[in-house]
Amino acid sequence: MDQHTLDLPLYEALAGRITALVDDGVLRPGMRTASVRTFAAQHGVSLTTALQAYRLLEDRGVLEARPKSGFYVTHRPHRQRALPTASQPPQRATPVAVSNPVFSVLAYAGDPSYAPLGCALPSAGLLAAERLDRHLARCARVHGRAYNVYANPHGDAELRAQISARGLRLGHAVSPDGILITNGCTEALNIALSVTCKPGDTVAIESPTYFGLLQVLEARGLRALELPTDPASGIDVASLDKALGMRRVAACLLASSFNNPLGTRTDDARKAAIIRVLTRHGVPLIEDDIYGDISFGDDRPRPFAAIGPKADIILCSSFSKTIAPGYRIGWLAANRRHDEILAAKFALSLSGAALPQKAMADFLKSGGYDAHLRRIRKLFADNIDRMRRTVDRSFPKETRMTDPKGGFVLWLELPPEFDADALYTRAIRERICFVPGGLFTATSAYRNCLRLSCSHDWDARIERSVERLGELAHELLA
Ligand SMILES: Cc1ncc(COP(=O)(O)O)c(C=O)c1O
Repeated sequence: MDQHTLDLPLYEALAGRITALVDDGVLRPGMRTASVRTFAAQHGVSLTTALQAYRLLEDRGVLEARPKSGFYVTHRPHRQRALPTASQPPQRATPVAVSNPVFSVLAYAGDPSYAPLGCALPSAGLLAAERLDRHLARCARVHGRAYNVYANPHGDAELRAQISARGLRLGHAVSPDGILITNGCTEALNIALSVTCKPGDTVAIESPTYFGLLQVLEARGLRALELPTDPASGIDVASLDKALGMRRVAACLLASSFNNPLGTRTDDARKAAIIRVLTRHGVPLIEDDIYGDISFGDDRPRPFAAIGPKADIILCSSFSKTIAPGYRIGWLAANRRHDEILAAKFALSLSGAALPQKAMADFLKSGGYDAHLRRIRKLFADNIDRMRRTVDRSFPKETRMTDPKGGFVLWLELPPEFDADALYTRAIRERICFVPGGLFTATSAYRNCLRLSCSHDWDARIERSVERLGELAHELLA
């Protein structure tokens, strides 16, 4: 047993072992567990301790007792928590000023001595880092000098062809010439905003939204118009229509799927309705599809650009969440404004680094990406499931939480009087990092919310940290 389990009462440690077997799929829903007597003998514990462990698991909804038959793994391992309420942000454009608090949280989020519930960044071991590094080493050996030049500002031609081919599989027909390789999704978003907006303009966004996006708006002197957003279905189309009718909005910026922090999956019909409204008001859509490939279901959701191929849509994405955040390879695909987009790329960074692009192109060509995606989708789905279960048994009963079908973040909403900043201060003292909800808006909302990242391999430290956050949340609410 590790140090963590040694600190626990025996029955609790045993319950943890059974939970791990359920989590790992060794014990499946509906399966009968060993009888209490057998379990006690197997683990060299008293019948009382064995029964305490089983009863605890029953309380937690992992096992259920069937009269005269024994204990079985439940079909619904966790209670259905209510989803967070749909947001109702004020219907006015707000200046954005989030950068200072964001930087302070990021300093803790990147420090490995803090439990990693803050950064939405998979640990390198989970990504395809080693295989990609081998491609990079080979490229450096074979092509090193030839690639030590100012690369084509559009980006590596083979890489663009690979991205174009993947887009086609989703019904997004964009030729390699319509794709620009960027320095991560962040540069793609910056370029998209630079060709659609000027300082002082208003951009319509989801609420809550990814704080990095707010930082980009802040740096570009843009105002945010936050839209009512439902965690299950996405932005409210009627509110969007109304908002665009009342003021000039230069662009609308939405996640294509599994937005950060809500994990929302917007269905195709709603996406089509959003495109119709934007087209009617002449407002371009910038979509961020960075989480689209991390879909837990069988189907990978289509981006807006695949649903409205003729509409004014700029798609931004990157491999940061699925392959290699450090390679900084993102892209932008647009069906108009090509000259302005290229000029903006020139002005920002002239061109991207050539060798990492070549290595990424080789990696994609080698065919390993789909198998890799299948692996990490399952892994992140399991992490989310474990996180939800741990939150369920540890947090106050009024806590609402999302039920994402993709990505790797979870959003919790506590009662309105709850102060997530106070929880943050206490958690940081105990070397646990998460992101308080107030960073996901340019307004004063979500002070009772928090985001937990589920992007690292699940372990005892993570589990204990979530439980501890739950204890602290109980104390703060009391
Ligand atoms: C929604 C979203 N978009 C963009 C990014 C940044 O992407 P990149 O690292 O490719 O610049 C992130 C990173 O957390 C994100 O969550």
